[in-house]
Amino acid sequence: MKKKPFYITTPIYYPSDKLHIGHSYCTVATDVMARYKRMCGFDVMFLTGTDEHGQKIEEKAAAAGVTPQQYVDNIVSGIHDLWKLMNISNDRFIRTTDDYHVESVQKIFKELYDRGDIYKGSYKGKYCTPCESFWTESQLVDGKCPDCGREVKDAEEEAYFFRLSKYADRLMKFYYEDNPTFIEPVSRLNEMVNNFIKPGLEDLCVSRTSFSWGIPVTFDPGHIVYVWVDALSNYITALGYGNDKYHDYDKYWPADVHFVGKEITRFHTIIWPAMLMALDLPLPKKVFGHGWLLLEGGKMSKSKGNVVDPVVLCERYGVDAIRYFLLREFPFGSDGIFSNEALINRINADLANDLGNLVSRTLTMCEKYFGHNVPQDRRFEPLDEELTEMLDLVKKNYAALMETFTFQSALAEVFKVIARANKYIDETAPWVLGKDEAQYDRLAAVIYNLLEVIRIAATLLTPFMPDSCAKIFEQLGCQPDECTYEKAIYFANTDYYVQKGANLFPRIDLKKELELLEAKNAEKQKAAEQAKKKEEKKSEKKEEKKEEKIEGIISIDDFMNVQLVVAKITDCVPVPKADKLLQLTLDDGSGTPRQVVSGIHSWYEPEDLIGKKVAVVANLKPAKLRGIMSYGMILAADMGEAAKVLFIDDAVPCGARIR
Ligand code: MSP
Repeated sequence: MKKKPFYITTPIYYPSDKLHIGHSYCTVATDVMARYKRMCGFDVMFLTGTDEHGQKIEEKAAAAGVTPQQYVDNIVSGIHDLWKLMNISNDRFIRTTDDYHVESVQKIFKELYDRGDIYKGSYKGKYCTPCESFWTESQLVDGKCPDCGREVKDAEEEAYFFRLSKYADRLMKFYYEDNPTFIEPVSRLNEMVNNFIKPGLEDLCVSRTSFSWGIPVTFDPGHIVYVWVDALSNYITALGYGNDKYHDYDKYWPADVHFVGKEITRFHTIIWPAMLMALDLPLPKKVFGHGWLLLEGGKMSKSKGNVVDPVVLCERYGVDAIRYFLLREFPFGSDGIFSNEALINRINADLANDLGNLVSRTLTMCEKYFGHNVPQDRRFEPLDEELTEMLDLVKKNYAALMETFTFQSALAEVFKVIARANKYIDETAPWVLGKDEAQYDRLAAVIYNLLEVIRIAATLLTPFMPDSCAKIFEQLGCQPDECTYEKAIYFANTDYYVQKGANLFPRIDLKKELELLEAKNAEKQKAAEQAKKKEEKKSEKKEEKKEEKIEGIISIDDFMNVQLVVAKITDCVPVPKADKLLQLTLDDGSGTPRQVVSGIHSWYEPEDLIGKKVAVVANLKPAKLRGIMSYGMILAADMGEAAKVLFIDDAVPCGARIR
């Protein structure tokens, strides 16, 4: 029979820094759901990936002295290692720098433009000329540029906009009539409607010209697709929409669920559906906005040095213990406070005591009284029914809770049976039965019941703790076809071949461990403080340098670093679609023509310039202006409203150095 498809995704993470336990939380939840659905017989597509473009990455790379691509490659390689360590079973991993994604995003952007849902307008903001950066009012510090502290001015930049405002009514109809369970938890639906849709949706700026690390708009060089159109499209480009890399869009789209953090629910429930409506594509079936993991003092932050590193925890306590803790401790839809104490207590109570003890006591007794097999001669008693009835119910409850992503309660159900089984051992007292041969048939029934509980519990726990459960099955000696989801029912006539192995979850000494972790944390915080101080010193120095420059004090060496030479303008044409720009060809005496783009078209026509000699800064970093490379800058006097090019006497030869 053909399997039903199930498509589930995580957000694509920013590779601006190493990921922390908060990112792991969402990925582990998605992995658990993907594994659960596979176990139920679905054909699952589980997608995760990285969102690699944008100004922040460009700046981080520059600060690290590497190219943006090198910067993200390095972080992404660490992300792959992390997901491998955490046993994440994603079927695909998309990077927004992948060629096929770039190609698809360019097509999507053009398609939206052709349909009239993207139009050209202007983006208004505060502009800092020396930093060449746009800021919003709220980003300013004391009304000044947050980077250099200088005055900013009102400015406009050409940009493309998506007609988001047009979709408000259709979105409301979608939420309330077509798909009332689209946004979950339901509190987030109210938030979206009351905070964003009702006050009025504004059109969304979807291109920028102020940075270059991104996907270029094909039909307007200089414009870069601004983050959300690029990022959100990943969910369909990874299936082959608009490219030939993959071919399973028809099979998996629309997605069954996007798991996202609560802070980006808005983008996934407003912008993404509107984009899909504009493209005439089906909408995802559900967006689940999960809560945040917080620390006692608030959010995790790199600069505070209080980021919880999943690698450290997995190495110390085991991957499965961390996976289990994340989903057992916190309700998926709400925020939760992470603490080492809660982690260790949870591992000790549930995994070492309840589950670990049940497995170890049962298997030890089985081997002691019967060897590897439980005899077929078994005498069941009414007391057993309480246990078996509970087993029958647990799968039903578990399934219902898993289907609604209520992981915490699904786990609680399984652990209820585990606790009941531990109590059953005390009630039946197998060590007493074991002393009397006449009771061996009763003892066989008791051990069999316990093995059944362990097998069923381990099956239901497999999506959460795949490795540990595989080890349990190994110790039970079950064949793979005996530990399937269909057989997670009581009396599956399982053939056990018991062989007790090592303890699965050793107990942790809470006091000692907390001391150790606190010492480690203190070390980390100290390192973070030192790094912060170093950073502050560095920026103080930078500031001093800036001030020196502002006051005009530069050394002769500084001046001599600027290569000013005489050049003749041999050709000049206007830059298409850019009123203020002229493209100049210069003879700088080197023998190779030099191309320069200059913003002087408001005051000069080509015929005013061709044949004239000018001063050019020859060692300026090349820049792209409206898609045309510019190698240098010609000097002009800034007179506020106008500019005057500094022409040079024709008798001066091309290439002469100006000092
Ligand atoms: N790149 C965007 C998402 C684009 S999706 C088309 C982004 N990336 S992110 O790196 O900031 O990752 C955000 C996601 O990581 C959150 O939505 C959430 O799922 C997860 N978490 C990051 N920090 C978290 C916590 N402290 N707690 C829980 N999850 C958190 O936004």
